[in-house]
Amino acid sequence: MAQQDRRDFIKKMGGLSTGLLALSGIDDTWLEELAIVRQEVEQMSPYDAARYEPFWLQIQQAFRQSPHFINLENGYFSPQPLEVMQAQMENIRMINEIPSFYMRKRQAEEKQGVKRQLAQLAGCGPEEIVITRNTTESLDTIIAGLDFEAGDEAILCDQDYGSMQEAFQQRAKRHGLVLKWVDVPLHPKSDSEIVESYEKAITPKTKVMLVTQLINISGQILPVRKICDMAHSHGVEVIVDGAHAFAQLNFKIPDLNCDYFGASLHKWLCCPLGAGIMYVKKDKISKVWPLFGDVAFPEDDIRKFEHIGTHPVSTHLTISSAIRFHQLVGPERKQARLHYLKNYWTSAVKDLDRVILNTPLSPDRSSAIANIAVEGMTPSELSAYFYDKHRIFTVAINRKSVKGVRVTPHLYTRMADLDAFIEAIREVAG
Ligand SMILES: Cc1ncc(COP(=O)(O)O)c(C=O)c1O
Repeated sequence: MAQQDRRDFIKKMGGLSTGLLALSGIDDTWLEELAIVRQEVEQMSPYDAARYEPFWLQIQQAFRQSPHFINLENGYFSPQPLEVMQAQMENIRMINEIPSFYMRKRQAEEKQGVKRQLAQLAGCGPEEIVITRNTTESLDTIIAGLDFEAGDEAILCDQDYGSMQEAFQQRAKRHGLVLKWVDVPLHPKSDSEIVESYEKAITPKTKVMLVTQLINISGQILPVRKICDMAHSHGVEVIVDGAHAFAQLNFKIPDLNCDYFGASLHKWLCCPLGAGIMYVKKDKISKVWPLFGDVAFPEDDIRKFEHIGTHPVSTHLTISSAIRFHQLVGPERKQARLHYLKNYWTSAVKDLDRVILNTPLSPDRSSAIANIAVEGMTPSELSAYFYDKHRIFTVAINRKSVKGVRVTPHLYTRMADLDAFIEAIREVAG
């Protein structure tokens, strides 16, 4: 590649330093090859780009994985690309060199800069978001911070994440909130079937509902915008659990028309562990009490939620690098690739006699995650079989409404890994 082209490309990548990459084990050749294939995918539709292996081969090399097993359990959290991990180490080193000087003189401004970048990615203003540790902190702050009277009602679903269910259960125990539970079908016939199941649970006492944008145990994507519009038409607020949706699906938070939103950045944005986002719509901020006391900021100022004490600022700073990597892959391409990987293995096994897929497969109803069961085997037996016999790591899900093994490929998953997984399924269910 010509020197000028190379410089232009590096500039476009946001000043990614080749020195830093070399330190992380990625060299200039990688950068140059990536530049070439990236120019090629830029000309393609996301559908075609998702299948263009030379590009994904370069992306795979941005991650380092254990050679001892195939990791198809990327739903818990994401490994960081080497570049992001290196930035995290640099940030730790920098803060360690100028410890309280950094905290007193530079922390506020630099964190504000990161917040602006994150807000831009989320499609909202920095005055509507807080950087938290994770989805649990974001959503539990909201669930704990809203005013409820005894007898008020909240709607949630049996497939919502346990921490949020428990936060609501605690409000029920402590303040007399009444919980109404909705069942979401595993294979809905239409969006309206889902919207109606939430609508039917609304009564004049309903104040709020929790909606999981992408259900972690089945991989199903819910029609959140339609649910929010319906809820608002009844005067009900919506809290969206976007733990798995943020940076896996290509959307902006305001597209959802929700009131509150939380996600973990260590899942699909590939940040270091312990980074999350909380969004509160501007006109709702004054309704929510902060978890940690604050009287310094006005009630309608989002910064009232940032009174969290001394914390690892390096992680906040590293969000910048993770956003840069995310943009380098391309949010639309990323979603298309993850969907393609899921479809690749599910379409190869879905017609086997004993296979049950607990995930709707169309592009608007699922992305990377799918859940598979094999008749005659418990979820634990099946996931143990994958690992013990084939060294493929998955996770068993044994909930009332979803029983099977959750399978979550990632950007670094190789097609050969999926072929090995398909063979393992054929062997056990064929
Ligand atoms: C749907 C959903 N919500 C919330 C969470 C909690 O995320 P964290 O542990 O990062 O707070 C998870 C974690 O897997 C999840 O899948």
